[in-house]
Amino acid sequence: MKNIVLNLLILSFTAIAWGHETHEGLRHWEIASPDPDRIFLSFYGDAATSRAVTWRTDTSIEKAVAQIAESIASPEFDQQTATIEARTETIDLNQSSDNKQGKVNYHSVIFNNLKPDTLYAYRVGDGENFWSEWIQFKTAAATEKPFSFVYFGDAQNGVLSHWSRVIRMAYQKAPDAAFAIHAGDLINHAHRDMEWSEWFKAGGWVHGQWTGIPVLGNHELAKFSEDTPRVVSILWRPQFTLPLSPTLPEELQETVYTVDYQGLRVIVLNSMMDTKAQNAYLEQQLQRPGAKWKVVTCHHSIFSPAKKRNFAYARKAWKPLLDKYGVDLVLQGHDHTYARGHVPVRTADGSYGDSIETMYVTSVSGKKMYDLSREQLESYAVDGYESDQTAVKKQFFQVINVTDNQLIYEAYTADGKLYDKAVITKDFKTGKKTLQ
Ligand SMILES: [Fe+2]
Repeated sequence: MKNIVLNLLILSFTAIAWGHETHEGLRHWEIASPDPDRIFLSFYGDAATSRAVTWRTDTSIEKAVAQIAESIASPEFDQQTATIEARTETIDLNQSSDNKQGKVNYHSVIFNNLKPDTLYAYRVGDGENFWSEWIQFKTAAATEKPFSFVYFGDAQNGVLSHWSRVIRMAYQKAPDAAFAIHAGDLINHAHRDMEWSEWFKAGGWVHGQWTGIPVLGNHELAKFSEDTPRVVSILWRPQFTLPLSPTLPEELQETVYTVDYQGLRVIVLNSMMDTKAQNAYLEQQLQRPGAKWKVVTCHHSIFSPAKKRNFAYARKAWKPLLDKYGVDLVLQGHDHTYARGHVPVRTADGSYGDSIETMYVTSVSGKKMYDLSREQLESYAVDGYESDQTAVKKQFFQVINVTDNQLIYEAYTADGKLYDKAVITKDFKTGKKTLQ
């Protein structure tokens, strides 16, 4: 009995000391360990032949690897693997007083020379004892081919409690989605590791299976203290390995980039930083041949449906380019409400015809909700904007199907019901687009 009491005392002192030193107040799923977690698949180079994967461990894992193999029915697919050494960086979460966990390691690997339109299985780990499960994804076809993708407006608040149901319902509706656009404000406090833990727990393994396209929002920037400037989340670049854009300034790297996928081009803009530097980039990407469909995504709404919000700069500098190059779809967030509208093509006499130029969507996937201002939407008539559908107090995700001559847009609510649908049909000979 004495021994049992003694052992219990030793155990509880150990637990208190362990908890006090490093992990007090943290949830067990927030704490980094030698096992890989927060596995995130992203684009990096040609979508038909490459991908990047990024994951987290504690600092005991100093060298890490990823393995990849073509997927076949036999469990022996793992006999034919390529092993790639990871790039590892240590980040100190205590740079921000928001965090209690100290240093953690992020590892990333680029998979290159993959075969187009092929299912692969990959895993990440230390190469010996600590491995993730095998996770499967398919490369893009090398040519135009129908596919679908999903889009989420701000997750931001109640990410684990309320956003988890949205991403999971999205996975039920579109398990084969080629990628997922997260249109900014993925979390609320840029540097707060707990919130990123929630984001990764809410999506779980889906973040490693779907390829993610994260967009930087205002909540991905924050100050460390009152007298320091706002900076990009200390976790953004370590945990997302994103395409580089050599013509852009250093501070915009991994926040402004372009993905080409089976005939569709997604241009990701950063509505928070140096918007001027992005004008030439946007035009270059829109001019570049090879895209049958063009989608632009940025966090702030070009036609904001919420009161006292006005992204006038984008209407002045970006919209003329969207018009000129016939961008099909613009996907945005920030306003915590839902608005879909379009701008028709302007004819030579200055009037608007029946052919559409661009469809604009503002959406929200998380818990926080704002009111919608009809007056504000009506004020955009000067730019030709016509409102097609709105909603308040609804959590959404969208599934967009890309076919040979149509973009089929569907907005689903968190309970899986279809709320809004729009079909853009394009005649590629004349460039004329109709909206139904
Ligand atoms: Fe925002």
